[in-house]
Amino acid sequence: MDRLKRALRRINRIRSIAVLTGSGISAESGISTFRDKGGTWDNYDVEQVATYEGFSNNPSLVWEFYDKRRCEIKKTSPNNGHFALSKLERASEQNNVIFTLCTQNVDGLHHRAGNKNVLELHGNLWDAFCINCGLHVLLTETPLKTIPPKCSKCNNLLRPNVVWFGEPLCETTLNHAFEVMDCDILIVVGTSLLVYPVAYFPFLALRNNALVIEVNIEKTEASDCFLFVQGKAGETLSVITETIMDYLLDQNEKN
Ligand code: OAD
Repeated sequence: MDRLKRALRRINRIRSIAVLTGSGISAESGISTFRDKGGTWDNYDVEQVATYEGFSNNPSLVWEFYDKRRCEIKKTSPNNGHFALSKLERASEQNNVIFTLCTQNVDGLHHRAGNKNVLELHGNLWDAFCINCGLHVLLTETPLKTIPPKCSKCNNLLRPNVVWFGEPLCETTLNHAFEVMDCDILIVVGTSLLVYPVAYFPFLALRNNALVIEVNIEKTEASDCFLFVQGKAGETLSVITETIMDYLLDQNEKN
């Protein structure tokens, strides 16, 4: 962590910390990633289960896919990586540092670990909305009694509130995330950085002179641009966040 300490010393004052997570942070909770060997996209056809066209063709197939994931996720718990980030959020609050966690994950584990300021860029598996009247429904039962589920108001189809391929991200969330990338430190965890527009975020942060730390079990195509820390999120994140928290305390004492 000497590299990290040296990089932290170069920051005049830490005012804001951002985190960007992908499915790799939930891997140690037992949730499969998407593109690793044996990952979700090895076993399912993206076009069929993660596009609006796929949903229109066969809503039951899409809901069966999401219901299976919901059942699996319900049985899991946040891991040490998630908890390290919730601890960092609490420490940031105590030291008057703005903390925002942007996640591509739809599993809700960051909330369950105690993070509060979370931007769910790709939606949330526990939320659904009607394709006709837009009514949002919290769907927590697993497995679902009826597939595909219908709207209680107009009896049209509900769809999962997740962003599918070819769909834009929610504009408000995206604009907020752009602002968040104007930070002093960005920690990027467990993402292949292959899906846009999120893959741009670390470069936006770099352009804003942020220190960008990347945690992954293997290098991504962008790793050479960042302070790359190789290892599992559940093992390495706590060391990184403790180092940053020590620095926040020092900073507070000096002021
Ligand atoms: P990917 O499957 O593309 O990448 C997962 C990353 O996590 C890889 O770079 C792995 O090396 C890394 N990884 C695996 N285990 C890890 C661990 N224990 N600790 C740290 N890193 C680990 O998943 P995402 O980048 O999340 O979008 O994929 C982005 C988006 O593509 C998802 O949100 C989803 C998917 O299609 C939609 O469904 C719209």
